[in-house]
Amino acid sequence: MTSAESMEANPLAAGLEQGRRAPPGVLVVFGASGDLTARKLMPAVASLARRRLLPSTFAVVGVARSPMSDDDFRSKLIDAVPDGGPAWAELVKGFRYVSGAYGGADTMERLKAVLEEVDADRGTSGNRLFYLATVPSVFEPVADALGAAGLNSASRPDSFVRLVIEKPFGRDLASAQHLDDALHRNFDETQIYRIDHYLGKETVQNVLALRFANAIFEPIWDRRYVDHVQITVAEALGVEHRGGFYETAGALRDIVQNHVMQVLSLTLMEPPATIDAQGIRDEKVKVLRAVKIMSVEQVPTDVVRAQYEAGWSEGIAVPGYREEDGVAPDSRTETYVAMKLEVDNWRWAGVPIFVRTGKRLPKRVTEVALQFQRVPHLPFRAHESRDLHPNALVLRIQPDEGISLRFGAKVPGQAFEVRDVLMDFSYGAAFLEEAPDAYERLLLDAMIGDPTLFIRSDEVLQSWCIVDPILTAWASKDTPLARYPAGTWGPKQADQLLAREGRRWRTP
Ligand code: BG6
Repeated sequence: MTSAESMEANPLAAGLEQGRRAPPGVLVVFGASGDLTARKLMPAVASLARRRLLPSTFAVVGVARSPMSDDDFRSKLIDAVPDGGPAWAELVKGFRYVSGAYGGADTMERLKAVLEEVDADRGTSGNRLFYLATVPSVFEPVADALGAAGLNSASRPDSFVRLVIEKPFGRDLASAQHLDDALHRNFDETQIYRIDHYLGKETVQNVLALRFANAIFEPIWDRRYVDHVQITVAEALGVEHRGGFYETAGALRDIVQNHVMQVLSLTLMEPPATIDAQGIRDEKVKVLRAVKIMSVEQVPTDVVRAQYEAGWSEGIAVPGYREEDGVAPDSRTETYVAMKLEVDNWRWAGVPIFVRTGKRLPKRVTEVALQFQRVPHLPFRAHESRDLHPNALVLRIQPDEGISLRFGAKVPGQAFEVRDVLMDFSYGAAFLEEAPDAYERLLLDAMIGDPTLFIRSDEVLQSWCIVDPILTAWASKDTPLARYPAGTWGPKQADQLLAREGRRWRTP
C-alpha cells in the first residue's frame, strides 16, 4: 500500500498530515528546464498533490532561458512525472512559464505580471516561494534582480516571500561570505531557506529522535564511553554525467562541507530545549564552532585525498575518474576524502571523529557509527573472546535504514565463548508508513514556513571555516593525491590514518 492509499484507508493519519498542508502560494522555479526540476522538484510537487498536502490555490511558475510556451512547459512537466496520472495533468494546467535571462530586469517585469495574473486566476494570495534550481553563478544576479523588481518583499500585509537556495553555498569561506552578503542585501535571513537534502532524509531526522526521545543513549553519548565516531558517506556511482561540475567541486566541497557537517552536527550537538528552528540550529552551530580548525600544516597528516582509477563496480568494469566525460586527463580533483576531526568541548574532548566519503566505493551506504570503549577488564580467556569487539551503535542513514547495536553474547555450548551479535532495528520492518522523499518534505516545510530543516547562515559559514584550511593546503600543486581502484574502500593512506591511532574503519 502506498502512503497515499494508506492515508485514505486511515483518515486519522490523513488528518495528522493535513495539519501540515501548504498554504496558498506560487512556487517560482528558476532553472525550470533543468535537471533538478525534472528529477526532484516536480516529482515532489506531484507527490504532495497526491497526498492532498497542496491546496487548489497552488501553482508553479517556471523561469529559464530557453524560449518555451506555457503548453510546452506543461508537457515537459507531465513527462517528468510519468506516474502523475490525471490529477497531475489537471494540476499542471494552471502552471506558467517565463523565459529570459536570469538576472534580467525585463525577465523580472514579465515574471511580476505573470505572478499577478496567477494570483488573480488561482487565488495564490501573493505568497511566493522563489526556488533557485540554477547554476550557482546566477544566485547573486537573480537575488539582486528580484530585489530590484521589488519581488523580494510581500505585496500584501499577510503574504510571504521566501527564497529557497540549493548548495553549493560558495566555493570557500570568502565566496560563501560574499554570497551571503548578496542574499542579505535583498532578503532577511528569516526569508532564506538553504537546502541540504540530507536534512530531509527521515533517518537523519531520526538521529534527533534516537538521542532525545530515549533515556538510555544520552548518558553514554560522550567521551567517557565513546572511543571514536565514524561517519561514512559512500557511493557506488562515479561522477556519471556530472564530470564538468565535479571538476570544479571535488568530494570535500560536494559532500563534506554540507552533508557530512550536517550529519556530524546532529550527532554531536547538545540536547536542544525545543525541537524547533532556533532550538536545533543554535545547538548545531555551537558544536560546529567547537570543531577544531586545522592548521594548514596539519592537513597532510589528518586529511587524505584520493581519486578513483579504473576498476569494478557491482561486477561491471568501469573507467577511472580521469577517463570520465568532462574530466581533464590530468585532473587532480579528489573523489575521496578521509579525515580526522576533533571537537573541543566538554562532551567530546579527546574523541576522534573520523569522516570518509567517496565515489566508486564498493556500495552506497551512509552511516554514523559510535564505537564504544573496551570494557575495563575482560574476564574471559583470550581464545574464548577473540571474536568479541567493543560495542558499536550504528545509525544507518541509507539504504537499509535502521539502527544496530553490536554487543557480546555467549555462544551456546559448554565453553564460555563470547562473540559479537547484532540487535537490529529496521525502519522497513517497524513502520508501514512510507517515508516522504527528502525534497517533498523540504518543499512542504518551506511553503509552510518551517525553517528547522534548513541551514542557517552561521552554520554555512562555520562549516566553511572548518573546510577552508584544507582547501588552502590542497591549493598547492605538491599536495599528494592518492589513488584507489574503483570498487574498493579507498586508498591505503585512509587505513593508515586510523591505524596510526590504533583504530580501523568499519566495513559497512
Ligand atoms: C549531492 C552531491 O549533494 O549528493 C552528489 O552533489 C551526491 O554528488 C549526492 O551523489 C548524494 O546524495 P544521496 O541522497 O544519494 O546520498
